Amino acid sequence: MKKNFEGDYNRLVKNKLSGADKKNAMEQSIGGNFHHFGILQRELIRQQGLKGDDVILDVGCGSGRLANALKEMPNLTYIGIDVVQDLLDYADEICQRDDWSFIKATDLKIPLDDNSVDIITCFSVFTHLLHEETYVYLAEMRRVLKPGGKIVFSFLDFLIPEHWGVFASNLILINDQVPLNQFIDPQAIRIWSQHLRLEVENIFSGNSPYIHMSEAIEGENGELYQGMVTLGQSVCVLRKLESSHETIHAILPTNFNVQKYLELNPDLEDSGVDPEVHYITCGQFENRQYN
Ligand SMILES: C[S@@+](CC[C@H](N)C(=O)[O-])C[C@H]1O[C@@H](n2cnc3c(N)ncnc32)[C@H](O)[C@@H]1O
Repeated sequence: MKKNFEGDYNRLVKNKLSGADKKNAMEQSIGGNFHHFGILQRELIRQQGLKGDDVILDVGCGSGRLANALKEMPNLTYIGIDVVQDLLDYADEICQRDDWSFIKATDLKIPLDDNSVDIITCFSVFTHLLHEETYVYLAEMRRVLKPGGKIVFSFLDFLIPEHWGVFASNLILINDQVPLNQFIDPQAIRIWSQHLRLEVENIFSGNSPYIHMSEAIEGENGELYQGMVTLGQSVCVLRKLESSHETIHAILPTNFNVQKYLELNPDLEDSGVDPEVHYITCGQFENRQYN
């Protein structure tokens, strides 16, 4: 399976940097709408329960659109991860928060301890990943999330007619080396969540406003955001149950030993099932030993 997200996004940022001043390049690399979309994202996660002293992880933080909107919260601990160093450096520079971290992470692993984060955001990132990569990331997010914590992510939604234009433009770019624009069917999210033991708390459709603005703000082109607004993309809110402390493996643990697994679980020997697939799909939930 070919993975493109790192190379494709780095190429996109280099192209932007060669054609525009740094600020512009950094803001356009993540889709523009830098200031007001940052505020919209912040208001959304406040409504989802963000507290002033939370630890927040922003996966695919880009050039700091959300971080910039949060930087006045003195007791908030923010960790941003991304695959593009230029974007991370810019986010760090505009936030000026020595106590915050901006970390490069390129292998769908999150360099944080289990059960250590209150809330995870991931805006317009699964948009650029294969579904299998999204699933692996969700398992990793679940691992670092505290029980009761939430994952808030946005996605391009097959059910929304307004998103069809993006799909159509993918067809024009089909042979180009540009970041993937992946769509997700909300039903797929429900199935992934079942396998990952995550609760789907809400799926907000991108075409019916779901963020309440306590005060009006102006967008880049003078448009007003007030009352109930939307980011355009649909948003899903997942919750790790209070009772969930165990890790769920989306991929095999590094110390998984096939031979040992078969020795320890003799009922699998003649079952015709691939032992690795067996462990991922059911063995781990039956607490089967593997080394
Ligand atoms: C459209 S931008 C959104 C940035 C930010 N979340 C925001 O809303 O402003 C997508 C971001 O995802 C990052 N990205 C792509 N693949 C990633 C991955 N596997 N892990 C972390 N970040 C990734 C890109 O480098 C880029 O910064």
